[in-house]
Amino acid sequence: MYEKEIEAAAGIIAGAKYAVAFTGAGISAESGIPTFRDPGGLWDRFDPDEIGTLEGLTAFARRHPDRLRQLLQESVDSFGQAQPNPAHYGLAELEIMGLLKSVITQNADDLHSIAGNTRVFEVHGNLYRFRCLACGWTRKHHRDEILGPISTVLAMETFNIQELLSVLPKCECTGLMRPDVVMFGEAVQQLPESFLEARSADVLLVMGTSAMVWPAAGAPYEAKRQGAKIIEINPTTNAYRDITEVYIKDLSGRAMPKIVARVRELRGN
Ligand code: APR
Repeated sequence: MYEKEIEAAAGIIAGAKYAVAFTGAGISAESGIPTFRDPGGLWDRFDPDEIGTLEGLTAFARRHPDRLRQLLQESVDSFGQAQPNPAHYGLAELEIMGLLKSVITQNADDLHSIAGNTRVFEVHGNLYRFRCLACGWTRKHHRDEILGPISTVLAMETFNIQELLSVLPKCECTGLMRPDVVMFGEAVQQLPESFLEARSADVLLVMGTSAMVWPAAGAPYEAKRQGAKIIEINPTTNAYRDITEVYIKDLSGRAMPKIVARVRELRGN
């Protein structure tokens, strides 16, 4: 399926001087993490206007502790078992080949780093990095250090918000810490560095995003403006149809291994 597009994409990537990847929730769908806007996705089951901001989430927790418990249980279940899938590993392999120079991701699930990519720009933050609300100090934790204690609280007979807050990491200044993820209305992270990467790219590999959330969604346009070739992998929408050179209507976890295998053949390694 899509052999012609796979061949075209592999040919472009094999000749890249500075390939960059731009990814969204779709790349982690095959790792068991639900996307936001697909049928059954997070925004299908929870209202982003209600829980997409810190204020909204705090009010939601007070008003609907049971629904918060459901949201946390689903998140712990999906993020806790998630491993990188062939799409993540394909990007890591392209970095080892010296073709892919960085990954700009909207995902906060850490899967690109776990897969082995070493230059990952997380414009919407990272779930396992916590930031102090008082002094701003941040510290990255291992996934289990965070999800383990939360699971214990969720397993209790009655769900208690204070109990939940008590197991979250504490700052040395004794301030409360929150996950260092970007919620609606908050400043995105590493945007200048990410757009510099996009502008430096001669090939931009876009996968798993609906291109709905700005300013992150602007990255492919930054690359295109500098003459980059845009390749998109998405099973339902060609979200960047106006600038895409090659569109592969497939799952990224299925298309990437084919692309990387062909790149290896073309480069004789
Ligand atoms: N492979 C590739 N793409 C996929 C796959 C897959 N296996 N499964 C789904 N997709 C595509 C969907 O077709 C959809 O276009 O991934 C896209 C996911 O879109 P969204 O759920 O909107 O996720 P994303 O684009 O990352 O959202 C951006 O919105 O809510 C905010 O902060 C949140 O970072 C997120 C931002």
